Amino acid sequence: MGCLAGGGHRVVGVDVSTDKVAMLNRGASPIVEAEIGELIAEAARDGRLTATDDVAQAIAETDISLVAVGTPSAPDGSLDYRSIDAVTGQIAAAIKTKSGPHTVVMRSTVPPGTAVDRVIPALKAGSGRTLGDGLHYYSNPEFLRESTAVRDFHKPPFTLIGAPEGDDAAILRELYSAIPSPVHVVPYQVAEGVKYLSNAYHAIKIAFANEAGGVLAAYGVDAPVAFKLFCEDRDLNISSAYLRPGFAFGGSCLPKDVRGFLSLASQKGIPTPFMSSVLPSNVSVIDRAHREILSRGRQPVALFGLAFKPGTDDLRESPFVILAERLLGKGFPLKIYDRSVNVANLMGSNRAYIKQEIPHLEELMVDTPEAALAGAKLAVIGHVNRADRTAMIAALDGHAVFDLAGIAALRNHPGIDYRGFCW
Ligand SMILES: NC(=O)c1ccc[n+]([C@@H]2O[C@H](COP(=O)([O-])OP(=O)(O)OC[C@H]3O[C@@H](n4cnc5c(N)ncnc54)[C@H](O)[C@@H]3O)[C@@H](O)[C@H]2O)c1
Repeated sequence: MGCLAGGGHRVVGVDVSTDKVAMLNRGASPIVEAEIGELIAEAARDGRLTATDDVAQAIAETDISLVAVGTPSAPDGSLDYRSIDAVTGQIAAAIKTKSGPHTVVMRSTVPPGTAVDRVIPALKAGSGRTLGDGLHYYSNPEFLRESTAVRDFHKPPFTLIGAPEGDDAAILRELYSAIPSPVHVVPYQVAEGVKYLSNAYHAIKIAFANEAGGVLAAYGVDAPVAFKLFCEDRDLNISSAYLRPGFAFGGSCLPKDVRGFLSLASQKGIPTPFMSSVLPSNVSVIDRAHREILSRGRQPVALFGLAFKPGTDDLRESPFVILAERLLGKGFPLKIYDRSVNVANLMGSNRAYIKQEIPHLEELMVDTPEAALAGAKLAVIGHVNRADRTAMIAALDGHAVFDLAGIAALRNHPGIDYRGFCW
């Protein structure tokens, strides 16, 4: 409110708290926040900022309503929608009596689906208007941090706007035109989801840093120094690497070293509930894929990819080996294709692993995508080398596909009964 008024907009603050309304009308900030006191005092003095508890009056005088009511947790952890529902009902009733168009913008943090399933239907029913015709609705989650909110307002990472298809949210682009950050207009659910994703990830980063820092310190490591170096790696550590939703991790390093780190922690009595959940979480991802395949009934399966990732023949702790074992255990006829895994050429501990642990998988391996698909009903795509994609996609015609890899070319391919893992 203070930042928008400071940017020259005429702002009417609406709150059910008469104390907050009175403070704002006196030019006093109801919150403790750097720079906001001066912004509000100046805007109130210049007449650009007033406050009221009269929703109808505020709606009549303005073009846009920004909703920023509280969305606390209900006792079961779900979201308490009471303030959202109340304010939606009040805004809808006020729009009904207004002659011109009105735009409602959700800035509160709300779960994906709230716009489509809850707020828009309530606004339409209460105002008697249809979306796009005198009533406009956008999701616009805010990413401001308390204590640096004014700075964050002027320099957000991006402006995220959830909008109906084909609507480029011109009114919000204009509202934020002084802010230099990129504007992304996306479907409502994506905008709502990114807000949750962001805060969950921030919390996860803190939990990781605190637990890992405690373990390092117990071994005499200066944890802040270690973390400073860790953060210097912008390729793998502080980057989008490993942040692509999909299937489980594996290989000879990540599972082993997570276990090793947890063992170090337990030897020093350092609790690590967060990091202890990483390997079970990884197994739960395999479980989810397994359940999905079982739910389609027993049928011949072609599995593409056996090594833990494409371009390697490392089968140790590969989640695809685990998935293959489970399918065999449930009696699924199975063929496996992985261009990089030629058992005859395997070396060292990797060779020993396949000979001792999974010799029966060797017999199921075939040399071409076509051979894997011959007789198969369902293709499970773990990963596919680029060199095999064209042949595989051509051979997939008429098959059901369960894609764990997120191969864009498969998604809307005609002739394929496609199902993605989390897309
Ligand atoms: N606090 C932050 O820094 C921050 C950052 C990003 C997102 N968010 C999200 O923004 C939302 C608001 O957070 P907050 O910390 O400001 O909450 P808050 O509870 O401090 O403030 C919400 C205000 O809404 C008012 N209100 C409730 N019902 C109303 C109604 N029907 N009409 C008018 N006013 C009403 C309350 O009186 C209160 O003053 C939440 O969804 C939160 O998750 C907050």
